[in-house]
Amino acid sequence: MIHSASSIDNKKKFLILGAGFSGSFFAKSIRKLGYTALTSSRSENKDPDSFVFNSENGTVPNKKIFDGVTHILSCIPPDKNGNDPVLGSLKNKLKSLSLEWVGYLSTTGVYGNTKGEWVSEIDPPKPLQKRSHKRLNCEIEWIESGFPVQIFRLPGIYGPGRSTFEAIRSNKVRVIYKKNQVFSRIHVADITNAIIYLLQNKNSLKFHQIINIADDEPCSQIEVTKYCYDLLGLKMPKPIFFEDVKKELSPIAKSFWMENRKVSNKLLCETLGYKLIYKNYKIGLKDCYTNI
Ligand SMILES: NC(=O)c1ccc[n+]([C@@H]2O[C@H](COP(=O)([O-])OP(=O)(O)OC[C@H]3O[C@@H](n4cnc5c(N)ncnc54)[C@H](OP(=O)(O)O)[C@@H]3O)[C@@H](O)[C@H]2O)c1
Repeated sequence: MIHSASSIDNKKKFLILGAGFSGSFFAKSIRKLGYTALTSSRSENKDPDSFVFNSENGTVPNKKIFDGVTHILSCIPPDKNGNDPVLGSLKNKLKSLSLEWVGYLSTTGVYGNTKGEWVSEIDPPKPLQKRSHKRLNCEIEWIESGFPVQIFRLPGIYGPGRSTFEAIRSNKVRVIYKKNQVFSRIHVADITNAIIYLLQNKNSLKFHQIINIADDEPCSQIEVTKYCYDLLGLKMPKPIFFEDVKKELSPIAKSFWMENRKVSNKLLCETLGYKLIYKNYKIGLKDCYTNI
């Protein structure tokens, strides 16, 4: 669990680049611990601790934003050419800072299709989808940048406000059955807590540049969907076979079903000793349910 601010010295200043779902959760948590955290989005908003960064139209932050920054967390996906938006626009600026740590949120998509087998950080990436090739390219860019970067490979992210409950409510659920197909997932709070745990214990833990953050129990989409319908007291629609529906799926939706893997969290949870808050979808979805 997260300890008080005293365990990371509170002169740290975090820049969270791309404060979408995971980035804004991280920012909120780190501020509660007493740190300064500024967040970026692509357009102006009312948050006084937010600034605009948009690599698509060349909007870069005012240089004052970078004063005293010690930690960066990038939650921004690759650009359309497969390059990293942060390195493309801000690398020289970041080089001029005394950065102690850079975190980069990546995806387990870089592992490709393991046909349902477990995959861990020591397995070589074998991206299948174009977007996963782009992602791997960004990981490599970060590693070669010389920054003290730690890469977090994430499976499907869910949490309050972004889960199957929202899909059910907006009638966007399709209950699809594909034999032996599983997905890994992670609750947004565990992304934040795991990263803070690693930072708080940086001096005593061996440094690993690439770490998976996933829960303990990969499982089928149907199990998750059924669990949500049960909590809502509703009847789940009859499942449709993937083969019958695949032509109707969008290319992106279809691509998720073309990969089947179980993401191991042994490095994080056994070797490094992080204790998941939401070790499976049931506990995690109960949290989402109480926050609907
Ligand atoms: N969602 C998942 O299930 C999942 C799974 C594995 C990995 N990931 C990856 O993990 C990271 C965090 O995921 P998330 O779901 O929390 O992300 P998210 O909610 O989609 O947020 C992405 C953030 O990046 C910003 N952004 C996008 N393109 C940008 C650009 N060209 N220049 C500047 N800012 C840009 C967005 O700005 P605005 O705030 O203005 O929109 C947003 O703040 C992402 O890289 C994502 O691809 C996601």
